[in-house]
Amino acid sequence: QLSPADTAKNAAAIAAVALVRDGMRLGLGSGSTAAFMVRRLAERVEAEGLQLRCAATSQATADLATRLGIRIEGLDEIGWLDLTLDGADELDPDLNLIKGGGAALLREKIVACASDRMVVMADGTKVVDRLGAFHLPVEVIAFGWQTTRELICRALARLDLTERPILLRKHDDQPLLTDEGNYILDLALEAIPDPHALSQALNEIPGVVENGLFLNLCDLALIGQPDGNVTELE
Ligand code: A5P
Repeated sequence: QLSPADTAKNAAAIAAVALVRDGMRLGLGSGSTAAFMVRRLAERVEAEGLQLRCAATSQATADLATRLGIRIEGLDEIGWLDLTLDGADELDPDLNLIKGGGAALLREKIVACASDRMVVMADGTKVVDRLGAFHLPVEVIAFGWQTTRELICRALARLDLTERPILLRKHDDQPLLTDEGNYILDLALEAIPDPHALSQALNEIPGVVENGLFLNLCDLALIGQPDGNVTELE
């Protein structure tokens, strides 16, 4: 028996997996909603014998998919993708997203950019009027990360975002390492007045690898409700 929150995630995942057609090249997202999607996809693959080519946005997703009988290939073995199904930490009415709560933002953004279509699965708690209450993850190179943090702080000040805490993400008291061996800085911004300006400013800093703002990438959002209904935003 699923909890109401998991019922909502699972409903969004089922609606997303219904978009998959035989022969598609797919990007598989990361996080707990994406894990429901991988499970539902594996069921369809087994029941219908779908022939798919799949790339994963994280090692965790690759491991889960492989365990369930879905073969994972490298993105470059597949090349361009037809469809990516992924979760999100926040989405606004323009379908701009914050992602990276699960530290997979870099591969997630590469995979989303390599897809004709990106569909987000989420529960209603993720939908916001304006992005920024969720801490914005920024993936940075470990070398000189404190200097990079200072440069981020100065860039934020130029955008009138002063005195915003920038927190090094930890795991077992050590800096968390991403799948690519980098660190994550979480920016406690409260609200992001201009996501495009912020994304550009962050990615100009040399130690920044990528930030968790996914702008103009999502084509459709499937929002699951605790009663199992799904609404579409596009
Ligand atoms: C992973 O890095 C994130 O971008 C996830 O997509 C996000 O954290 C959503 O995860 P949940 O589905 O677990 O909320």
